[in-house]
Amino acid sequence: MPTIALHQKYRPKTLAELVGQPYVQTALTNAINRLHIAPAYLFTGSRGTGKTSTARIFAKSLNCLSFDGPTDEPCGTCQSCRSIETSNSLDVSEIDAASNNGVDDARALIERSSLAPVQGRYRIFILDEAHQLTTQSQNALLKCIEEPPPHVVFILCTTEVHKVLPTIVSRCQVFHFRALSLQTIAQHLQEIADAEAIAVSADALMVIARFAEGGLRDALQLLGQVSLLGETVTANHVIEMTGGVTATDLLIVLEAIATNDTFQLLQSARTLVDSGKTPKLILSSLLQTYRDLLILKAAPQATELLTSPVNYSQLKAILTHWDFDALNQSLAHLQKAESYLRNTTNAAVWLETCLLNLMPMLRSIPFNSPEAKQAVGKNGHSRKAISEPASATTVHKPTDLAALWQKVVASAKPGTQKLLTQARLTKLQGTKAILEVAPASFAKFEANQQAIARMLQRVTHSPKPMTVLIRTLTATKNGRSVSATPL
Ligand SMILES: Nc1ncnc2c1ncn2[C@@H]1O[C@H](COP(=O)(O)OP(=O)(O)OP(=O)(O)O)[C@@H](O)[C@H]1O
Ligand SMILES: [Mg+2]
Ligand SMILES: [Zn+2]
Repeated sequence: MPTIALHQKYRPKTLAELVGQPYVQTALTNAINRLHIAPAYLFTGSRGTGKTSTARIFAKSLNCLSFDGPTDEPCGTCQSCRSIETSNSLDVSEIDAASNNGVDDARALIERSSLAPVQGRYRIFILDEAHQLTTQSQNALLKCIEEPPPHVVFILCTTEVHKVLPTIVSRCQVFHFRALSLQTIAQHLQEIADAEAIAVSADALMVIARFAEGGLRDALQLLGQVSLLGETVTANHVIEMTGGVTATDLLIVLEAIATNDTFQLLQSARTLVDSGKTPKLILSSLLQTYRDLLILKAAPQATELLTSPVNYSQLKAILTHWDFDALNQSLAHLQKAESYLRNTTNAAVWLETCLLNLMPMLRSIPFNSPEAKQAVGKNGHSRKAISEPASATTVHKPTDLAALWQKVVASAKPGTQKLLTQARLTKLQGTKAILEVAPASFAKFEANQQAIARMLQRVTHSPKPMTVLIRTLTATKNGRSVSATPL
């Protein structure tokens, strides 16, 4: 037997069961109890917030046969209530405006509205997705909506009220359905999980709530989906299922940034990209986490404002790595990077550049300064000073060179960046640098040799001019090719 989806099973049946819409609930309950029924209603609001459900409840309330008049608690069992629920009612027409949007459909509807109700007290027209009606058909309906026969009620539902003619809107009583808060959604999900014996952690419910963006349908759909995993549902399960970046992944990236571990950082970025996460998604998840860190730094009590998958105690544990200014700078940098990302053809390289720029050593300390050398002294982990003074004999590790080159790429104009990503900085000693490039782009690099040298000088803050030697790259044993794997 096919099981019924949670969002259908838990469709509210009375106004009292409606979640998170107190204003709609009170106003409609009072309208029914005082018999102030308007000729036309317009329910607007974002997806899955209860518009269609409320339209049906209202129709049942007006026509329930178990009572002498309209009731705010329709029985749900009389013939009228049941037929409305199964969309078979002769008096209540639920019309999908998306597929009946022409002027002929409007005329047919107007004709039907003149007929007296068959069974109930009112003839009710629910026009779902009303913004899909053509302007012509909206115009045709105008008169009818303004002055329908006394037994007729129109209920228009739409997510895009700006597409409904203002003349129509002004003839309706308008109800705004709010996007539900995270807490409201999570609490509702908890009740349903309890009723359905779904084992799910509170963190996981918050992740679902965030994903649903204020709508309950999406939230319930996702809960139903993760409940099939057959074990206690965790936040990571939900994030994996929605293709998001998990807290574990984010923590690895943040830890690498905080400890200046270039290699770990580039590797984890690559692993994420390889597992199908887009650079945009990775950056926006990181942005969210930095935002949370900043909030915790500024207002340690404001836990209800946190939105990242990384939970409070995990955030607390890594917060010590940054001061307020560093977090602020990182956030600004990430925001900028997000907009760059839209215009680049090589998003993966941009991602790496951006992540490297979040490292404290690359962000605030000139690469050639003694502090930087101190910071990267031992495998990027140690901050102990290395005994060797900065000199022309200092040889940089490949990972540092990669990071440095990313900085050069980032500092270039967008038009030049693509070319620069095709090179690899293989050596930097004093003021001499060696750049390996694919044979095809050798001539271009040769022509720009001096400009590249100047960029390198700027980025390394070298007091002396640099010289750059361009070499063509021969494919190595492991088959690495410069153009396919820029760094
Ligand atoms: N306010 C709410 N209270 C309780 N359940 C809700 C509410 N909003 C949505 N739901 C749940 O989501 C499902 C879909 O709701 P409904 O069809 O009323 O949304 P809608 O606002 O019409 O969405 P759409 O704009 O996508 O048509 C319901 O069956 C119910 O399970
Ligand atoms: Mg709807
Ligand atoms: Zn009834």
